Amino acid sequence: MSRIAYVNGRYVAHRDARIHIEDRGYQFADGAYEVIWLSGGRLVDGQWHLERLARSLGELEIALPAGSRALGFIAAETARRNGVADGIVYLQATRGTARRDHPFPARAPRPSLVMTSRRAAAPAAATTEAGVGVLSMADFRWDRCDIKAIALVGNVLAKQRARESGAYEAWLVDRDGMVAEGGSTNAWIVTASGGLVTRAPDERILAGITRRRLIELARGAGIPVEERAFSLEEAKAAREAFITSTTCFVLPVSRIDDTVLGNGRAGGVSLELRRLYDQFVAGAL
Ligand code: PDD
Repeated sequence: MSRIAYVNGRYVAHRDARIHIEDRGYQFADGAYEVIWLSGGRLVDGQWHLERLARSLGELEIALPAGSRALGFIAAETARRNGVADGIVYLQATRGTARRDHPFPARAPRPSLVMTSRRAAAPAAATTEAGVGVLSMADFRWDRCDIKAIALVGNVLAKQRARESGAYEAWLVDRDGMVAEGGSTNAWIVTASGGLVTRAPDERILAGITRRRLIELARGAGIPVEERAFSLEEAKAAREAFITSTTCFVLPVSRIDDTVLGNGRAGGVSLELRRLYDQFVAGAL
């Protein structure tokens, strides 16, 4: 089956999908995006993702290119036309095409809307059970990480640096020595008493949908969750750590810089949370 993309009202062959070179997304990263998981053709927490997209675009003062229902429909339809039942849908909206000039164009262009879909699988059992390494570094991104902007070059550099060091993810540390989040994930630790800690939403982190869902699932299972910042030192001394995102689900962290956590493999609480999240995605919870 050949790949299909949605571009401004049309479903087109993926290889022919085009946006103008003067699109402000291309020139200024002036736009926002979402990545939504699909399970059996169903958008997982689709409503929460679409609400966050509306918020991101609102903060950027970009008009929503279509209503939430229409966006949800196009997302599911893009997946269907690609034959994707389990995988992701990528949505991106920008301010649109206009002659290059930093301030907003005097007459608002029509926002651009693009969607693609492809098959994907959650991290395999072997990866999950081994856990991954993270590399800490100063957070050199902008001060509005709560907006899911397409301006990801800081995250790109952070993740690349991590990968070159042999780590899977970067952990970005704020000026106070507190962990903000990963390059494309939220960061969590498990305390000595088995409770979870993850930073409360602020302008240094993206309020992850997986994070939000897992807080509900954990509390429902009787696992306490504290929403507060934690330092890199506290993380290195923690019983367990893990990261969450739409595409990595719940991924245990077995090493932070040179510090090995626990026995150097995934911790039991992290694995239990991954099981809970898997069940939720499969629709069993
Ligand atoms: N990344 N923090 C950042 C900086 C992210 O880019 C992401 C998601 C998250 C987790 O958010 P969620 O649980 O809603 O996926 C946290 C997506 C998956 C990406 O850019 O591919």
